[in-house]
Amino acid sequence: MIPKILLLYLFFLCKLSISKRISPDLSSLRTGKLEDCQRCKILTDSFKHWLSGTSRGKHEGGDAAWEEAKLKSYSRSEMRLVEIQEGLCSELKKYQDHCYTLAEEVEQVLEKWWFYEDPETVDLYTWLCIDNLQYCCPPNHFSESCIPCPLDKNNKLCGGHGKCDGDGTRKGNGTCICHTGYTGNYCEECSKNFYLSNSICMPCHKACDGCSGEGVNSCNKCKNGWIMQSKSCIDIDECSSSSLCKENQYCVNREGSYKCKNCDPSCKSCKGDGSANCTLCDDMYTLWSGKCVGKEQKYEIVFNVAKRLTLYIGLLIISVFIFRNNKYFAAFTIVIIAIYIFTLENSSTVNLLELILNMN
Ligand SMILES: *[C@@H]1O[C@H](CO)[C@@H](O)[C@H](O)[C@H]1NC(C)=O
Ligand SMILES: *[C@@H]1O[C@H](CO)[C@@H](O)[C@H](O)[C@H]1NC(C)=O
Repeated sequence: MIPKILLLYLFFLCKLSISKRISPDLSSLRTGKLEDCQRCKILTDSFKHWLSGTSRGKHEGGDAAWEEAKLKSYSRSEMRLVEIQEGLCSELKKYQDHCYTLAEEVEQVLEKWWFYEDPETVDLYTWLCIDNLQYCCPPNHFSESCIPCPLDKNNKLCGGHGKCDGDGTRKGNGTCICHTGYTGNYCEECSKNFYLSNSICMPCHKACDGCSGEGVNSCNKCKNGWIMQSKSCIDIDECSSSSLCKENQYCVNREGSYKCKNCDPSCKSCKGDGSANCTLCDDMYTLWSGKCVGKEQKYEIVFNVAKRLTLYIGLLIISVFIFRNNKYFAAFTIVIIAIYIFTLENSSTVNLLELILNMN
């Protein structure tokens, strides 16, 4: 049980800090626009947040009757209001300045609700934002005088697939703003490139320009970059037709389109990414199995390949001599050497075959 004097002390502490809170740094106010109704919603949400944050639900044993009486008096006390106002807006990450400004403007109105209205029956948002400040309208109402949103012939609001312009605010003209895929005055139709399936509008296949159903076979027409073939839309390989890209670029086919990408700077023209996909070289350079190489580099490569070739021939001659007397063992060794050469050549950048093909 907390001594009364301590409660009183806490109360004054709160009073002190609230007077500090009430004068927010005006220079920090951002000019970002926010509609009045939204501001009010943010404020009342914050109020409700702190209202539940300051509820003291459980008795901690002891004199139950006394505790209950104390709780009752606390639930609508000035002390609790001060605690709420102390926290009000501080939990917000967005629009905090808007919240503080409005909190200051409506402080006295809020107090009126706190002390004179029944929180169980009178909702703060309705009381403050709709009735008192007249910033908002009830749900499904719009405009200055809160006209009901128009309903379609099934008494549904925008066919259940949209909301009315200005819904819940004092603004707007009440026309339907449809969700993606829906259109029409009451969102009763499917938008372009959507089709109706079990009274839901579903997106057409990406290849379709309008469709009657699911998949690439239900297109009415094909979008650009696709072509109709046996009732289906097929991607056009733009890169197969002659040079759409510049000389120093290569073509990459995409679904429904294509892209030109720059060749490696060592190539003059190329057929793909990297320095080993060149098809033409600048003067002074020679094309060698997809690479543009200078004179010195070329000799270096020839020298390296010749070195390897010598090694292989040497290995073969030696094994033939050593195993002259045993044919089977000689054959076995030659196979091993052949495998060794094969793997070595496969992993080397310029292999023997290419060398022979490029000899001219
Ligand atoms: C209603 O307002 C929206 C914009 O909020 C506008 O696009 C539309 O044309 C307006 N409709 C009428 C009938 O004024
Ligand atoms: C050549 O280009 C193609 C396509 O961009 C790429 O897949 C391939 O890996 C490239 N070859 C080399 C050796 O970089």
